[in-house]
Amino acid sequence: MDESETRIDTGPTGVTAFAWGLPSGIPLPLEPAENPMSEAKFQLGRHLFYDRRLSGNGSQSCSSCHRQSLAFTDGRALPTGSTGQVLARNAQSLVNNAYNATLTWANPSLTQLEQQITIPLFSEDPVEHGITDANRDTIMQSLRDEPVYGSLFGEAFPEDRDPFTYTNVVRALASFVRGLNSFDSAFDRFQRGDSTAISDAARRGQQLFDGERLECFHCHAGYNFSDSTIDRTTFFIERPFHNTGLFNIGGTGAFPENNTGLFDITGIATDMGKFRAPTLRNIAVTAPYMHDGSMATLEEVIRFYAAGGRNITSGPHAGDGRLSPFKDSLTAGFTISDDEISDVRAFLESLTDSGFLTHPRFSNPWTPSP
Ligand code: HEC
Ligand code: HEC
Repeated sequence: MDESETRIDTGPTGVTAFAWGLPSGIPLPLEPAENPMSEAKFQLGRHLFYDRRLSGNGSQSCSSCHRQSLAFTDGRALPTGSTGQVLARNAQSLVNNAYNATLTWANPSLTQLEQQITIPLFSEDPVEHGITDANRDTIMQSLRDEPVYGSLFGEAFPEDRDPFTYTNVVRALASFVRGLNSFDSAFDRFQRGDSTAISDAARRGQQLFDGERLECFHCHAGYNFSDSTIDRTTFFIERPFHNTGLFNIGGTGAFPENNTGLFDITGIATDMGKFRAPTLRNIAVTAPYMHDGSMATLEEVIRFYAAGGRNITSGPHAGDGRLSPFKDSLTAGFTISDDEISDVRAFLESLTDSGFLTHPRFSNPWTPSP
């Protein structure tokens, strides 16, 4: 892990022109110098996020795969792009993404939302929004033709003579996603002193989660429940990835070919099956779980950790994940009773921020939807 530690310059700790609405105790996230936050960019990004005109065939918006009521996931194991191509990975929640040290399930080089967001817009394999050289001008023209965008683009980028550019589309979308902050779950209220905010079961579940038998807190660490977190108080940044023992195809440690995690990017043998530990905020509404959407319930996930991995006994992926040579030593397995499993589940459910899931500020601004 040492080699991935980088010294960063996080800039001034208190300078921001944006009303983040963070509770006390939560540090400000980073803002890139070339795209500082503004309310006008956030609002433009919100309109674009829910606009299907921003796709090759007019069928897809970001919200097709990222629905607010599901903490911006889509409720499916694997999503489908605008031309029908099924993606290899589960749609991630867009919750406190401003604090992620890396973006997507496993890519150490994607560290800024501005980089990441070009992927769904322009990627050719897999196709998501399907914007190409052949249709990009027509799509931009359809945005120009929308009267609402005249003022939104102008206000968001007042210094530009012609603000209708894809660079600005990406900057605005990044500003919207960066502003999707969720820190008001029942558990947060409990931590702020409301002793009745969560049930006794959830309190017991928290003890288990934070204990050395289950070990969850090492990887799902800190205020965002992920050890891959960055903010303006971060001095040394780590970008960890972990193999939790989901696969061990043929006993070689292999993962399915199209989905090998960090290994896809680095080609280093020991990076096989390593993924970023995702935030667990709003986890109760983001089923199915894991990078391939292969687990239906939180109980199934907890039992998987208790077993110390997943043993697949037949089919092309057969192999005992519990014995994977690349598995993280913190997922060795543990004994747990059924009551304790319910307690851990109750704790995970207390991380739901229902205000975030319904807040008008994050919702679809269009009626009817374009
Ligand atoms: C076809 C479904 C689909 C569409 C459309 C889509 N996404 Fe995603 N999104 C995904 C999937 C799948 C991932 C995980 C990708 C991976 O790990 O390779 C993801 C990941 C992300 C992430 C990274 C989250 C994290 O925790 O690191 C962000 C940010 C994001 N999407 C924003 C957007 C925005 C903005 C749009 C619209 C321009 C968009 N997405 C459109 C499916 C989609
Ligand atoms: C060694 C680090 C590590 C430990 C320990 C760990 N996790 Fe995870 N967790 C991860 C990673 C990495 C993923 C994503 C794995 C994947 O999809 O391949 C994950 C995924 C999850 C998910 C699904 C998230 C989603 O968005 O689909 C849940 C729920 C979860 N963990 C809960 C727990 C609980 C509860 C414990 C303790 C019993 C725990 N984790 C222990 C690293 C860890």
